[in-house]
Amino acid sequence: MNILVIGGGGREHAVIRKIKENPAVQTIWAWPGNGGIALDAVCVGKSATDLDGICDFAKNNPVDFAVVTPDDPLILGCVDRLEALGVPCFGPDKAAARIEGSKSFAKELMKKYGIPTASYEVFDDAENALAFLDGCGVPVVIKADGPALGKGVIIANTRDEARQAVRDMMEERVFGDSGTRVVIEEFLTGPEVSVLAFTDGKTIVPMVSSMDHKRALDGDAGLNTGGMGTVAPNPYYTPEIAEICMKTIFIPTIRAMRAEGCPFKGCLYFGLMITPDGPKVIEYNCRFGDPETQVVLPLLESDLLTIMQAVRNETLTPELVRFREQSACCVILASDGYPKKYATGFPIEMPETLPCGAQVFIAGAKRAADQLVTAGGRVLGVTATANDLRTAVENAYLAADTIHFENARKRSDIGARALKALR
Ligand code: AMP
Ligand code: GLY
Repeated sequence: MNILVIGGGGREHAVIRKIKENPAVQTIWAWPGNGGIALDAVCVGKSATDLDGICDFAKNNPVDFAVVTPDDPLILGCVDRLEALGVPCFGPDKAAARIEGSKSFAKELMKKYGIPTASYEVFDDAENALAFLDGCGVPVVIKADGPALGKGVIIANTRDEARQAVRDMMEERVFGDSGTRVVIEEFLTGPEVSVLAFTDGKTIVPMVSSMDHKRALDGDAGLNTGGMGTVAPNPYYTPEIAEICMKTIFIPTIRAMRAEGCPFKGCLYFGLMITPDGPKVIEYNCRFGDPETQVVLPLLESDLLTIMQAVRNETLTPELVRFREQSACCVILASDGYPKKYATGFPIEMPETLPCGAQVFIAGAKRAADQLVTAGGRVLGVTATANDLRTAVENAYLAADTIHFENARKRSDIGARALKALR
């Protein structure tokens, strides 16, 4: 079988590694992949949003199955286009990808079907939004409706900050069209949990839970990033909480999508907050999380491609999805300055094999003169698995410490909060 994987980050590297375990797989093309993925797949194309290019490639090459991983091509309808050409795909179609592409769509879905989430109002008009803020408490959360590279969420601690956020989004258009509509939402508290789930639109099978570390600096200080590290499982996600989530969130969500005429097929990402009133949805993503995937897939015992085909063919069963009873930790090495300005082009030195059986997933690197050099904010992730979380965290750091590039920066406390919760 020949597989086309759309995307080019650490998440895609983890997906490709896992797909490669299937002996029937011959060629994997990564579109566009990156310099590190090039060791595991054939990199083609330049951009994951070049749908015309992707479709031309699928017409001219024997692609048996495609995996569309990032949000942008999914929201643009990459799966619809490839399926129309007869290429079976893993990933939601355009209508289902709205669950991430439009926050107001997601919020209205939850309201209509009674799925627990923060209470909210949607505004298309800055004046009405500003008037609403006069009567609401703080902190309050302001969200741009459309995709905003993970920056479209402002937690305002004062009314002035909230007003400023509304003006920035709706009048100054700092997120372009994504901010013409805003969602103003109740501020929730509690530990956050990420749950990725396979679903074929009828059956939903959650994967092992995980915890992201979104802030740039130790102690959850600094700016929000795409994620500086992850651990799995998440100790706050107890079997009791999991059962409540299945009943009140996961099953109702896939039923709701079906009832709305847009069944979701692919990986549905639930960003949850375990509030004093129970688990609530913070956000849905229409895809695997990054860097959640880098801890979840290494714990998957079953064959990933088989699961993805079952999702596509609507034959998913819980028995197809088995996880090891182990823990995993992924530590991200970023370029100093990320998520703001940073320099790139530094050679990456790493041993041929990492200690402790750890794996490296390359996110932002390219080949230059037969050397791997940095080419992004998040450069790579180092994942270790072990029988317990403490060992997984220790081993991930031991392995990460053997990798060097000039402006490397990592958090030193990935997993610390999870270990504290276990005590
Ligand atoms: P998002 O981009 O939707 O993942 O939001 C980014 C982060 O903002 C989340 O991971 C939460 O930490 C925080 N957040 C979003 N919505 C809320 C909310 N209603 N209450 C508290 N925190 C929130
Ligand atoms: N790690 C968060 C995300 O993938 O959106």
